[in-house]
Amino acid sequence: MRLAGKLAVITAAASGMGRAGVELFLREGAKVAAVDINAGALADLAGLMKQQGHTIETVQADLSRTEDARRSINEAAAKLGGIDVLWAHAGIPGPASVEGLDLVEYDRAITLNVTSAVLGAGEVIGHMRKRGGGSLIFTASVSGLVGSMFSPIYSAAKFAVVGLTKSLALRFAADNVRVNVVCPGLADTPMKSGFTGRSGDPAEAAANQARLLTNVPMGRLCKAEEVAHAALWLASDDASFVTGVALPIDGGFTAR
Ligand SMILES: NC(=O)c1ccc[n+]([C@@H]2O[C@H](COP(=O)([O-])OP(=O)(O)OC[C@H]3O[C@@H](n4cnc5c(N)ncnc54)[C@H](O)[C@@H]3O)[C@@H](O)[C@H]2O)c1
Repeated sequence: MRLAGKLAVITAAASGMGRAGVELFLREGAKVAAVDINAGALADLAGLMKQQGHTIETVQADLSRTEDARRSINEAAAKLGGIDVLWAHAGIPGPASVEGLDLVEYDRAITLNVTSAVLGAGEVIGHMRKRGGGSLIFTASVSGLVGSMFSPIYSAAKFAVVGLTKSLALRFAADNVRVNVVCPGLADTPMKSGFTGRSGDPAEAAANQARLLTNVPMGRLCKAEEVAHAALWLASDDASFVTGVALPIDGGFTAR
């Protein structure tokens, strides 16, 4: 088991890739705290994991709120008895473009994608120092590596997360804390429609998805489990000399 004895926190953990991470990290021997805004979905996840013989800690938090972003890390640390791994996975697509920008929507996107990552890192580093090191994993996107015509604000935010990753990798190396970021391509989770179907028109969403997939050499969507496996590797001691890396999980989308 690759995470035996590790204390791991995953945010945005009640759905999609975060949820796949909870299941995988548990199977690999970690003690897991799942953080999410959706208390009902967290309770359902905890119930399902119990049926599979696992106990998880849950922390309800709106990570777009400064107090919640900070509290969630400290509450998770208290429940787990420390933190070795944080997969700070929260993010949202945000506004479609810059014309007629809704500043409230813009602020919400920057806050959840960037500020919550910054605040999570700021809180968790002390806990990791106490454990003698750790692995901090962020979630950006292929849109944090190349531009996105569908989501320019999101792309700007995810480029910031990649910059944060590389900078904190330098800053925390002496603490034996590795900092990396997973960069998924368009993934088959509930969030997908936030990128392809903002208008709510299913035909337009299908056309946008088909258009995006023509640029994916492997020709398909990313699966949640594939991103969870990348996070598992970065969390584990198998990646003990890997830091400052932005890892695409994208079927070759950014290889061109
Ligand atoms: N789905 C994609 O196509 C895709 C591609 C690349 C990157 N990403 C990134 O992956 C991450 C999540 O994507 P997913 O596909 O797993 O999403 P998802 O829609 O399956 O799950 C998102 C989770 O985040 C939670 N959440 C939303 N707002 C929150 C808040 N304010 N505080 C705490 N939790 C909150 C939701 O309750 C939900 O459980 C984001 O950072 C996103 O930018 C997604």
